[in-house]
Amino acid sequence: MRIGLLTGGGDCPGLNAAIRAVVKQGTGEYGHTIIGFRNGWRGVVDGDVHPLGRQDIRNVLPVGGTLLGTARFHPRQEDGSMDAVLATVEAERLDALICIGGDGTLHAASRVAEAGVKIVAIPKTIDNDVEGTDLSIGFHTAVNIATEALDRVHTTAESHNRVMVVEVMGRHAGWIAVNAGIAGGAEVVLAPEEPFDIDQVVKFLRHRHRAHANFSIVVVAEGAVPREGSMEFTQQLGRFGEIVAGSVGERVSAEIAERTGFDTRLTVLGHVQRGGEPTPTDRILGSRFGVAAVDAVSAGTSGVMTALRGERVELVPLAEVAGRPKRVPEELLRVARVLA
Ligand code: F6P
Repeated sequence: MRIGLLTGGGDCPGLNAAIRAVVKQGTGEYGHTIIGFRNGWRGVVDGDVHPLGRQDIRNVLPVGGTLLGTARFHPRQEDGSMDAVLATVEAERLDALICIGGDGTLHAASRVAEAGVKIVAIPKTIDNDVEGTDLSIGFHTAVNIATEALDRVHTTAESHNRVMVVEVMGRHAGWIAVNAGIAGGAEVVLAPEEPFDIDQVVKFLRHRHRAHANFSIVVVAEGAVPREGSMEFTQQLGRFGEIVAGSVGERVSAEIAERTGFDTRLTVLGHVQRGGEPTPTDRILGSRFGVAAVDAVSAGTSGVMTALRGERVELVPLAEVAGRPKRVPEELLRVARVLA
C-alpha cells in the first residue's frame, strides 16, 4: 500500500513519536510505502511530498515539534483546495491517508473521507479537547511544563507576598488549567467551562490574604470567560479560532491589582507549553496511536480516529468526534474548586 501521512494544526511534543511508529510499522511488518506531506494539508494541496524511510526517523523520539512541519490550513470546497487534495491523492496513487491533528485537522479529514479518500486520524493537541479519546498527544507534556511553571512561580510569589496570575493555553476547554492548577496547588483556577465572576475571585483573594497567607496563584485558561456583567472584556479571534488579541490573563491580573491593591504579576506561558521534549507518556501515546493507525489502514478501515479509552487504544468514527470540543468534566472542576 501507499500511505500518505501529515501533521496539521498547531504542533506539539510527541508528534515525531507517532510519525516514527507509522513509518516503522508501515514499512516493517506490512511493507507499505509511507509518503509524508510537508506542512499539513497545505503540502497535500501543493503536492509537497517527503517520502519517509527508516533514515528519516532516526533519533526523533525525544525531539519536540514535527519533522514533517505543519500549518494552520484546512482544505475547503469553496476555494478549490479540496479538489487539489483529491488530485494529489490520485497523482501519488495513495491507498489511504493518516492525518495527525487537532479538531480543525480532524474536521477536514472527515470531509476528505466523505469525498471518498480512505482516512485514519490520530488526535493531537496540547489542549486535550478532542472528543472520543481520554488523551491527545501533547497534553501530558504541556501539563508537566505548566505545573513546573506554577511550582517556580510559587516560590517567588511567597517571597514577595504577591498574587501571581499564570495564563495557560486552552481556547475551548480548561484541561491544562485545571490539571496544572491541581498539580501545582493553585488557589484559583479559571476555565472556559465555568464563566467566572471577578468579584468572587477578588473576595476570595482578600479573605485568603487576611486569614491564611499573603500570596496566591491564579491560573487562567486563555479561553476563560467572565460571567456576563462581571468584568469588561473583549477578545479577537483569528480564522482558526486562535486568540489574536486580548488576553484574559492580562485583564484578570489588572482587575485583581486594581481592586485589591495587592502586588500582582502576570506570566503568560504561551508556546513554551508546546515546545521541547515530549514526556514518556506522550512518546508512548504517539507510538501506540501510530501503530494502531497503520493496523487500521492495513485492515481497510476508514473514517476512524485512534482513541485512548481507559487502558486500551480503540478506533472511533471520525464523524462522531470532529467539531465537538471535549470539555473538562464536573468531577475534575470540583477537585480544583475544593482544593483552592
Ligand atoms: O494547538 C492549540 C493551541 O495551542 C491553543 O491552545 C492556542 O490558542 C493555539 O494553539 C495557538 O495557536 P498558534 O500557534 O497558531 O498561535
